[in-house]
Amino acid sequence: MNPYRSYKNLPSLAGVCSMADAMKPGLSVESCVARLKRYHYLLKRLHQIFNDRITSEPIYELKMGFSLHAHYCAEHVAALRKRVGEMREPPLGLEETPHPSLEMFCDELRAAATTEELILGVYEKALLALKAALERHIADTNPLADHPSLRVCRFALLELDEMLRFGAGCLASLVTPEMRAHSQPWLALLDDCLRAAGGLDGADTPMEKILTRQRSAQPYRFDPVPRRDERFPDPYNMGVNAEVFLYDDKFPPAPKTLMMFYKRLREIDVPEMMASIIAETPGKPWDYYRDMTRQLWDEARHAMMGEVGFANLGIDWSRHVMVNFTWSLALNTQLKPLERHAVLYFIEQGLMPRTGKRFEWEVGLASQNPLSALFQDYDWADEVLHARVGRDWYVKEMGDAKKAVDYGDECWSKVLMNWETWRRDGKTEHRNWWPDLYTAACRNWNTTPDPDVLAYQTTYETVRADLKNLVGSA
Ligand SMILES: [Fe+2]
Ligand SMILES: [Fe+2]
Ligand SMILES: [Fe+2]
Repeated sequence: MNPYRSYKNLPSLAGVCSMADAMKPGLSVESCVARLKRYHYLLKRLHQIFNDRITSEPIYELKMGFSLHAHYCAEHVAALRKRVGEMREPPLGLEETPHPSLEMFCDELRAAATTEELILGVYEKALLALKAALERHIADTNPLADHPSLRVCRFALLELDEMLRFGAGCLASLVTPEMRAHSQPWLALLDDCLRAAGGLDGADTPMEKILTRQRSAQPYRFDPVPRRDERFPDPYNMGVNAEVFLYDDKFPPAPKTLMMFYKRLREIDVPEMMASIIAETPGKPWDYYRDMTRQLWDEARHAMMGEVGFANLGIDWSRHVMVNFTWSLALNTQLKPLERHAVLYFIEQGLMPRTGKRFEWEVGLASQNPLSALFQDYDWADEVLHARVGRDWYVKEMGDAKKAVDYGDECWSKVLMNWETWRRDGKTEHRNWWPDLYTAACRNWNTTPDPDVLAYQTTYETVRADLKNLVGSA
């Protein structure tokens, strides 16, 4: 028998796979969909698990990592939903739980007793199991017949590998052998949950065993109170008003880049606040969570731009810059989720006029600090996207653009920022840390401090009224 040949020996099958691979039995549509729904379920739950830890996790690097990984999960959930929808299967059943043991697995992860345990469970159990399942899907399926699913799996694996590298780094730095030993019975339960579900993908024979919940025996409760690590020693400090300085013409652009890096780093409070909206707003279409989580990740990126800006200037921000959490704390504990969204929308609206994001970018350009100009350029672009997210979800829910803005103003006005009470209660002295920061930067720039700039001492106590729509983060 003559073997089948392509014309002029050209690559056949569009380069997707060999003729032999295209002839293998692969997975039926039914079993393919059943597996996809399980990856979808796990990623949806992992999105929730990452999101719900962002606010209360003190360690800044983990907050940032969880923000990114929540975003990745939300994106792959969207891709999987779309693919399942293409597989002639209405009703799609995407909100159903594929297997009770898989649900227990995710509930246990969500209720992990410590951050270290969470990292062990999420990265070493859940994401490794997902990687193995996606690789098996690619190996099992017919690459020609099921090519669209294969693509979804392949793209997910790219970001999964990045997540796993991050997780491995966190494990190496944070998890001691004693912690691992302590969590051993729990980790064994996680393994059993997967076995009882027939593996994550359900392709194995389910193990018969009665499983008892450990961490998830009590219902999980979202913690809306933001926490920070020891590099944020004065989290109530509102002693340096960045906006008043930034918009004062008498100050030159170079020191203004410091204020902008501070404003960027302070945006860490936006993921802390947005995570609480996402956690406490159930029942929305997936695109809501996807858009909100993309914005959340952008805000985390803006914070890291500030971090990089200081690192680039050789400035130890943990010593010279007092990054507060007063905004996320106040909103998360005083307002309902929709009211928080209203405030966010109201503040981000205020960033769009000439005095907002464009101005910050122009200051960056004028400052001769290329990093500041670059970061402001993207910060501006991102904020335009966020205004769109606000219109698509918050304004639509309010039904009317003017009503939406007025409600945001009203909600923001009723938030109590107790400048004087915090001082009286000994929570902060609102120390003016600006001269320290500016002096450190001047050392780096090899310049003598400008006495006017050095003497800047406007706080958020009295000036807030005039600049009330500038005081927020975003
Ligand atoms: Fe920003
Ligand atoms: Fe934003
Ligand atoms: Fe922002």
